Amino acid sequence: MGNIILTGDRPTGRLHVGHLVGSLSQRVKLQNEGQYDEMYIEIADAQATTDNSGNIQKVKDNIIEVALDYLSCGLDPSKCVIFLQSQVPELSDLTFYYMNLVTVARLQRNPTVKQEIIYRGFQNTLPVGFMTYPISQAADITGFDANIVPVGDDQLPMVEQTREIVRTFNRLYGDTLVEPEAVLPENEACHRLPGTDGQAKMSKSIGNCIYLADSEEEVKKKIMGMFTDPGHLRVEDPGKTEGNPVFIYLEAFSEERHFAEYFTNQETGEIEYKNLDELKAHYERGGLGDMKVKKFLNYVMQDTLRPIRERRHELEKHIPEVYQILFDGSAKARAKVSKVLDRVKKAIGLDYENDLELINSQVQKYAELHEAQEQKKKR
Ligand code: TRP
Repeated sequence: MGNIILTGDRPTGRLHVGHLVGSLSQRVKLQNEGQYDEMYIEIADAQATTDNSGNIQKVKDNIIEVALDYLSCGLDPSKCVIFLQSQVPELSDLTFYYMNLVTVARLQRNPTVKQEIIYRGFQNTLPVGFMTYPISQAADITGFDANIVPVGDDQLPMVEQTREIVRTFNRLYGDTLVEPEAVLPENEACHRLPGTDGQAKMSKSIGNCIYLADSEEEVKKKIMGMFTDPGHLRVEDPGKTEGNPVFIYLEAFSEERHFAEYFTNQETGEIEYKNLDELKAHYERGGLGDMKVKKFLNYVMQDTLRPIRERRHELEKHIPEVYQILFDGSAKARAKVSKVLDRVKKAIGLDYENDLELINSQVQKYAELHEAQEQKKKR
């Protein structure tokens, strides 16, 4: 089997720059390099219902937002299948059988789920569906025979859980499922981008995210208000770049050309800072103000986000066509998962219609029973 890529997002909000560097850019790169046989991108609306059962409208409203974000970042429906999880019911069938291969204790150890439970205040109100979503995610991945899963590092426990399910399944029922591998961005700073306030998590409710759909003014305002090194009070003071969100963002987004474009002196032709190391060194020495760094970051971010925003603006005029992409994708996804489900049910032994041996053995059993009864009567 060749390379099959699968990944996805819950439609619970618009996608932000953390998604962009954490996973979206990687997907687009993989897509455009073309080293794969099939590529699937899932809008995980069913998973999103596991903690939004009372607010399905929120999930529904965000499907189009995520789809627009995908397409404007460069995901191309002629190269990858973009689909809606809820429209592929075969995934639930797989989940049902995988549930038997995972212990409750194992689920309770999942660090991402643990954090999410605390974050959502699910002490005595934890829905069973939410607790078990890693199993359903294993179905998402294995249902497509995916071997490559490009994700941010918060999703590593889900991929690990999937690998365990695959190994258990194959041990019990014979070699059937493909063991996937997570692919993280090469650049360390992209693994988990902090919020603009320096908090580890970007969250809509805290309001510390820069969204792909934000306007130029919104992006600028958020950058200018960003948290930096609280010890860097005066320009002359030495500053910290480590753990400083402005520098983490530069690490994640800036390219060498940005330095040449932005820092070249028009008269002398000299480049004030040729790369991020030089900018960092000056900040750490003292004498470089936060404003100047933020203005450069704004230049970099606008340069990155402008083409995405412009494509999005165009796509927003074609909403029905965007939905159609999802419906067509879902039909393709369903055809694929159906085949894998058939294989899985056969491996477990649940493909009764094709199981002549089963029927014959039952025929045999009753024939022998009747034969014995006949013998008894004769005696
Ligand atoms: N759990 C992912 C998120 O919260 C979404 C997701 C669902 C996913 N199924 C997946 C990611 C399969 C990778 C592979 O965004």
